[in-house]
Amino acid sequence: MTCLIDGYNRRINYLRISVTDHCNLRCIYCTAHQVPRLRHDEILRYEEIERITRMAVSLGVNSLRLTGGEPLMRPDLPALVKMLKAIDGIKDISMTTNGITLARHAQELADAGLDRVNISLDSLKEEKFRYMTGLGKLSDVYEGMEAAAKAGLNPVKINTVVLSGVNDDEILDFAAKTRDEGWHVRFIEYMPFASDDCGSGKFSENQTVSDDTIKQIIATNMGELNPVMPSRGNGPAKYYQLPNTTGTIGFIGAVTSCFCATCNRLRLTADGKLRPCLLDDDEIDIKTPLRAGISDEGIIELMSQAVAMKHEKHRLGEEILPASRQMWQIGG
Ligand code: 5AD
Ligand code: SF4
Repeated sequence: MTCLIDGYNRRINYLRISVTDHCNLRCIYCTAHQVPRLRHDEILRYEEIERITRMAVSLGVNSLRLTGGEPLMRPDLPALVKMLKAIDGIKDISMTTNGITLARHAQELADAGLDRVNISLDSLKEEKFRYMTGLGKLSDVYEGMEAAAKAGLNPVKINTVVLSGVNDDEILDFAAKTRDEGWHVRFIEYMPFASDDCGSGKFSENQTVSDDTIKQIIATNMGELNPVMPSRGNGPAKYYQLPNTTGTIGFIGAVTSCFCATCNRLRLTADGKLRPCLLDDDEIDIKTPLRAGISDEGIIELMSQAVAMKHEKHRLGEEILPASRQMWQIGG
């Protein structure tokens, strides 16, 4: 089998598929609501996503993640999951969601073949949760988490972006959840996007909190953090555990500790672009050739080109930021 190997000898086996740019929240670090959204005919149809994925799998991709915007805004997502699960060679399908409507969909998604979910959750306090998400209700997320666990979408991982003066007072509360309720929490450093202006303008870049700071706060107050292997996943997070806990604490230090050396991923945007890197603007249009009748070999060639375009690492440290799209148009 021909494999997808980039110019730095990294093997690409993980495809992140953004299925929509729509979202039902308004997170303060995300401007999903400020820009006109894609029209129905601009986004890839499920058959198109399935075909692209099938070609990726023929090149060694075996793990998929569905993202958005908010992926559950796309009607009948279980139908897509079912189509993707039927591709021979897929080992793992996960989804990143804000959890708001997950309770309604968890069982059907699990039945269709979804393996697990990551849920974005930045505050455990009702009022602050609403402030940070614009319109969210915390109890909806908790119900989503519960439904996910019940449906067997395990492990449920929590993604938390910490901003000083906003939710950094909750670092220990999140850490306590890993001890008291077995949660798997991952702290993600805020990643700046050039066109983003810190989302809503409700905070500034100097409010980002580094992994090291969070680690230190937890270790000082709650005990030593011992490194552990990831329970399941493909990502750049480094995992730890507090003494006598079943949950884990992960850190995704996008900015302060570059995770690029082990990058194994390629992205497909909702409007049909192959994006080699979250944090770099290079993209290859695959939708236009697809709709013009490209052959399977042609798709494979475009994928190989996209992988060959991967840079060794992101350049956030040099203030070179992605400018053409924002996080909600890529799906993290
Ligand atoms: N920096 C870091 N994380 C972000 N997310 C959204 N925007 C940013 C950003 N600018 C997170 C969300 C979600 C995941 C898709 O990415 O909270 O968990
Ligand atoms: Fe929606 Fe995710 Fe953006 Fe929040 S961060 S507004 S959940 S796309």
